[in-house]
Amino acid sequence: MRYGLIAGRAAAAALALAGVLAGGGARAADAEAGKALFDKTCTNCHSTQAGVNKVGPSLFDVVGRPIASVQGYDYSPKMRAMAKSWKVWDAAHLDTYLTNPRQVLHGVRMFFAVPAANDRANVIAYLQTLK
Ligand code: HEC
Repeated sequence: MRYGLIAGRAAAAALALAGVLAGGGARAADAEAGKALFDKTCTNCHSTQAGVNKVGPSLFDVVGRPIASVQGYDYSPKMRAMAKSWKVWDAAHLDTYLTNPRQVLHGVRMFFAVPAANDRANVIAYLQTLK
């Protein structure tokens, strides 16, 4: 039941994101706007440099990266468990996660959420540039 709900949400988020990325009528994701949001909010807890962990793990090259895989970062048991089902941070998983980390995945330590779909698409577009 709980897994069905999560899968349903993930599918809905993937569809919403695909719509934003395709730009079919909607605005295309804007990595510059995403960087502005990231610098204002995410940088309180995350570095974009490889190997630099703050309260949260480094987000360098996070898109396509296996979940909970930063060396030397002490992830919550829930995040480690997520790695087994979601495996990799793709755009759809990031979108679902960032919508409300605590609600989507009870037990995850990150409290910060990005409620607006447009903001999430922009942040994910920016994360894709962190190579
Ligand atoms: C208040 C601190 C805080 C803020 C602000 C925050 N995070 Fe996090 N983030 C964390 C913590 C702590 C974890 C580790 C969670 C765990 O182990 O359960 C995390 C984990 C993550 C992960 C998983 C990384 C991995 O290696 O698997 C991603 C992706 C992420 N955050 C993205 C973001 C983005 C994007 C933002 C800004 C929109 C953001 N976070 C804002 C604290 C924060």
